[in-house]
Amino acid sequence: MTEKQLKELLADLSFQEKLGEIQQITGAYFGDSGIVTGTDEDHILNEDEVNMSGSVINVVGAAKIREVQEEHIKNHPHHIPMVFMLDIIHGFATSFPTPLAQSCSFEPELVEAIAHETAREASVSGQHVTFSPMVDICRDARWGRVMESYGEDPYLTSKMGAAAVKGYQGDDLSKEGTIAACVKHLAAYGMVEAGREYGTVDTSERFLRQYYLPAYKEACDAGSALLMSAFTANGGVPATADKHVMVDILRDEWGFDGAVITDYGSTRTMKSHGVPETDAQVAKLALEAQIDIEMCLYCYHNGLPELLEKGEITMEQIDRAVYRVLQLKNKLGLFENPYRYTDEQKAYELKNNPEALALARESVSRTVVLLKNEEKILPLNANDNKKIAFIGPYVEEWDMYGGWSIRNQHKIDVKNIHTAVSERYPDGDFVFNDGCMLLGDDEEMVKFSPKRAQLYKEYIETDHKSRKERIAKAVEDAKNADTVVMCIGEHTKIGGELSSRANIVIPKIQKELFDAVAEVNDNIIVVLFNHRPLDISDIAEKAKAVIVAWFPGIMAADGITDVLFGDKAPTGRLTMCFPHTVGQCPIYYAQLPTDHSPVTEDYYVTGFIDCPLTPLYSFGEGLTYTEFEYSNIKLSKDTLSEGETLIASVDVKNIGDRDGVETVQLYIRDPYAAVSRPLKELKGFKKVAIKKGETVTVEFQLTTEDMKFYNVELEYIWEPGEIQVFIGPNSTIKEHIDFKLV
Ligand code: BGC
Repeated sequence: MTEKQLKELLADLSFQEKLGEIQQITGAYFGDSGIVTGTDEDHILNEDEVNMSGSVINVVGAAKIREVQEEHIKNHPHHIPMVFMLDIIHGFATSFPTPLAQSCSFEPELVEAIAHETAREASVSGQHVTFSPMVDICRDARWGRVMESYGEDPYLTSKMGAAAVKGYQGDDLSKEGTIAACVKHLAAYGMVEAGREYGTVDTSERFLRQYYLPAYKEACDAGSALLMSAFTANGGVPATADKHVMVDILRDEWGFDGAVITDYGSTRTMKSHGVPETDAQVAKLALEAQIDIEMCLYCYHNGLPELLEKGEITMEQIDRAVYRVLQLKNKLGLFENPYRYTDEQKAYELKNNPEALALARESVSRTVVLLKNEEKILPLNANDNKKIAFIGPYVEEWDMYGGWSIRNQHKIDVKNIHTAVSERYPDGDFVFNDGCMLLGDDEEMVKFSPKRAQLYKEYIETDHKSRKERIAKAVEDAKNADTVVMCIGEHTKIGGELSSRANIVIPKIQKELFDAVAEVNDNIIVVLFNHRPLDISDIAEKAKAVIVAWFPGIMAADGITDVLFGDKAPTGRLTMCFPHTVGQCPIYYAQLPTDHSPVTEDYYVTGFIDCPLTPLYSFGEGLTYTEFEYSNIKLSKDTLSEGETLIASVDVKNIGDRDGVETVQLYIRDPYAAVSRPLKELKGFKKVAIKKGETVTVEFQLTTEDMKFYNVELEYIWEPGEIQVFIGPNSTIKEHIDFKLV
């Protein structure tokens, strides 16, 4: 439609139709047939109102979506199609590694490729919008949702978020294989106090702008069609009512003209925050913050008519929101083809499609992080006449998908570590023993949250006698083996929304198994399945090797087998620090310097008297199966002015005995500025393949843009003075080379 036609359509809509466009409903309104199933307590809209709804969340399946759309167009007074929205977070038919794992690739290209494949599968299945990417900066591993994020760093998160948007949307949202992205959750939802879900956020305007907002902005600049507001209140102002962020910054400064949607009922959450009292007050605040669509719950529906009648809001305000929804539909090409690319047959064919499975498998080695590899115990050799015991619940578990996965693949399609390893090496001298279940009934989360534990009750070991016997049997197997591969970790359902943990350790039952095995065998390789950084201090000390696998998705078992036996080398790097202990959280590499900070190398005084100031493993850390030597770090000039470019370069030599891939990282530090600046800030990274014995020169470009920060007056500036540049394999590099900003 042309702009003129779109405006004419808007002008022709009744008030009820307008309300419908901005009030999202849930798929629960539609029965299996795709027909409205009537109203009940939760479903307060009547059939006519449902017929006028502009969008729906959680209708799944090509056939069902087609039916719902068909009925909807028939019954809507202006025959306006609906938008179908869903959380498609790390894959659709094909499940890929979780976003946090994806970020560890340090490859925006991989994130883009995964999003592209996801869009291809989702669009033929009838979906139009995904509530992704989530670019909330996460610095506290206790928060359950860190697995949906790209980690702790604003620069890396910005690159990954923008890549995901491009992957989902392509160049033109009306084209085949695309879905609209919805960047979320504005703003700073990841900064909830102590990682407590939906908790309080309180950031200064400077930190908000400097560290937490850039990634949302970059996703908007990359063209994200939608944006979602957060559940949280920042400094007491609910995000969905935060005019400063939503209007002054998002609309006026950034020029974002896409549709803004609330989080699921984040309008009503405002009442929980104790800000507005009535639905009408909620609706007023949200509309004034230019929130265009209310996701479920019904404050707009309940409140707007009264507000309009009393003259507390204007029809222009409502029209602006409705128009943004119509624009979204237009961008998606829905007026020309309300079914878009919905195709049941194609959707079926894309399940298990070899291209996607190959990408999913490849992405495993590129996202897992090898933290330790003493005596080069990895990779394993299946033919060296040594016995390998695979022990731990993840040896037999097939669900290594991680939270927010759309588990529409049947269990039998998916391998576990046992089947993948024995299929690859049928003659290998292996023994497989799960040793225990994923959780015991002595687990705090089981005791304190019995209702939630119902979600994973079939994974909880309750028989204490069998627990002892099974662990004893695993110990026997470990005794008789040369090497033990322990596949242990969190349960797939204890990460994601509403899954914050105060104790970020592996479940007790598995730790008991690990300790018992470590008593009898020194050659332990741990493969850790985890949503978030965990406190693995003790495990890392006792094990010879540690692979952080995260939740790698549908091809987890083959992908991990590739890594264990060296068909592929692990190349991921941490994007969140691993703490020594939960008491260090929040912990991140880009801390501000203090009197007693790691910058004073020879003067380590800890922030706590019972643990170091630095993390156990820092941002950017990770090993592979070869080693690299850095030399000849150079700057093309020793001063930099506005409009100029400085080249920083380094020679990286592969000094190991196989070809490899290195993630070269560049950090800067502004040691004296108007406000305190971080000890280090990532400003560039490059993942380069380097052949055995070869040296590659890696270059980075820096401009004054990279040195900018918000000063006391909140001006975004760079200041003349010294800048330190660090180039190396991770954020712990100490040596720097300096230049002057002039
Ligand atoms: C989450 C969002 C999600 C939405 C829709 C909310 O509870 O916070 O991230 O997109 O639900 O499912």
